[in-house]
Amino acid sequence: MNNKLKLHNVTKAFQSEEGGIKALEDINLEVKPNEFLCIIGPSGCGKTTLLRMIAGLDYPSRGEIILDGDRVSGPSPDRGMVFQEFSLFPWRTVLKNIEFGLQIRGMEDKERREIAKRYLELVGLQDFGNSYPYELSGGMKQRVAIARALATEPSILLMDEPFGSVDAQTRNVLQEELLEIWRRTKKTILFVTHSVDEAVYLADRVVVMSARPGRIIACVDIGIPRPRKRTSMEANEVRERLLMLLGSKRQK
Ligand SMILES: Nc1ncnc2c1ncn2[C@@H]1O[C@H](COP(=O)(O)OP(=O)(O)OP(=O)(O)O)[C@@H](O)[C@H]1O
Ligand SMILES: [Mg+2]
Repeated sequence: MNNKLKLHNVTKAFQSEEGGIKALEDINLEVKPNEFLCIIGPSGCGKTTLLRMIAGLDYPSRGEIILDGDRVSGPSPDRGMVFQEFSLFPWRTVLKNIEFGLQIRGMEDKERREIAKRYLELVGLQDFGNSYPYELSGGMKQRVAIARALATEPSILLMDEPFGSVDAQTRNVLQEELLEIWRRTKKTILFVTHSVDEAVYLADRVVVMSARPGRIIACVDIGIPRPRKRTSMEANEVRERLLMLLGSKRQK
């Protein structure tokens, strides 16, 4: 298992009563093992759809998604997803949320409790195992969602704007934590964001998508050594380039 991910001519159309809409067209992409890849693009360009298909929660209309030589045909514990909106089970405690994936795999109570505790600690919430989601802040809920996605030890982590709804300061902290987790666990991460700053801070490489139907307009290597400074000149230069690609310069 070297978690090599390949997308070949991935196209997705949705049928509606008025006809079909093409959400994605001919996406070709190779993601290297342990790569931190960010995906940016305008709202509605198909980013969530793309992650859902890689997760195996939806299927391409045409083209294929290949993971380690096999075509993705459904969900697997090997691909963990953190969703755009908080998606914890409100009736379960934090620990029981993290245990969920292990429980459906049939792991016995004691073992899964131990693993869940380990991931709870990794995201710094050891004192909140018995709390319920409503007792947590947005940033804490997102940490739980990350711990839950990590608990099944996926080799690929799919993250859909995971920090979109937390304040700027919490977002910075969560970015640091995620980079540390990535460094320690050596996962491949596909991370969708609306924030060019966030992409430049986190990614090895940034995929820029066009408006619907989503196509890849550019893949930009960030190439700035870590730890990065958010305000460095190199960071500013890459940011400019990405903004230009997104077309925001033209609209000003
Ligand atoms: N299940 C569905 N049925 C019909 N159309 C859908 C479905 N899911 C997504 N779409 C359409 O596909 C397009 C892409 O949606 P998607 O949610 O992937 O965009 P996105 O890039 O994630 O947007 P955002 O940045 O706002 O989250 C949109 O036009 C959306 O209306
Ligand atoms: Mg989305």
